[in-house]
Amino acid sequence: MSWQLFQQDALIWLRDQSAEQFDALVTDPPYSSGGLHVGTRTADSANAKYLSNPTKYPEFSGENRDQYSYLLWSTLWLTEAHRVLKPGSPFLVFIDWRQLSVMINAVQAAGFTYRGCVPWDKTEACRPSKGRFRQQAEFILWGSKGAWHDKEGPTYPGVIRCGVMAGGPKLHTTGKPMPLMDALVQVCPKGTILDPFAGSGTTGVAALRSGRRFVGCEREEAYYEIASERLSRTGSG
Ligand SMILES: C[S@@+](CC[C@H](N)C(=O)[O-])C[C@H]1O[C@@H](n2cnc3c(N)ncnc32)[C@H](O)[C@@H]1O
Repeated sequence: MSWQLFQQDALIWLRDQSAEQFDALVTDPPYSSGGLHVGTRTADSANAKYLSNPTKYPEFSGENRDQYSYLLWSTLWLTEAHRVLKPGSPFLVFIDWRQLSVMINAVQAAGFTYRGCVPWDKTEACRPSKGRFRQQAEFILWGSKGAWHDKEGPTYPGVIRCGVMAGGPKLHTTGKPMPLMDALVQVCPKGTILDPFAGSGTTGVAALRSGRRFVGCEREEAYYEIASERLSRTGSG
């Protein structure tokens, strides 16, 4: 079986999984940072926060924690993710500039060895910010459960430049471009990649396209259906 997808809360689902079965964690959790104030933080994900999206996407939840709660929650799910990974497995976790320090703390609190941070340069296509710096980057934290698995492979780029819409239209408000995910999964062992926040399934499609297997979890039914359909088209279930 090349992929499996579950529709459940990630923390509950992870707690049910047996230890040391996956070969990599590649995930893009909700950032809980779409707004700086309570009003915007608690607004609908698709309609009020990500204003630069002209497309209407299904809503998704998990975006309404303040920073302290986000640190606690992230530490909880990352601790479970750490448990279900085999020793030596790499992790790649997306985050934005607001929650960068929180997530760096959370991965280490969960037991991972934090090894670096790859800026994803979204290019000048991001909306302008007159008189200020353009918010043009998100970040991929990386590291491992213990020793890094690969001492012989190629050197991968430390910055990835890739437009948000590269590879075709997004299927999720915060969907990641296919070429970005294709590049990221290359660093993973040829085994099973875990994504507890699968969204529209981009990590899974990249895993399958690269000859790896995929196990994911997504809480929202609309995205579970979109991801299932994409994964079915890409590889056998
Ligand atoms: C940032 S999006 C992932 C987008 C994905 N990378 C893509 O390219 O489509 C995060 C996803 O996590 C889901 N989510 C939020 N909280 C969750 C939870 N507690 N358990 C499982 N999924 C959750 C949301 O519904 C959302 O689809």
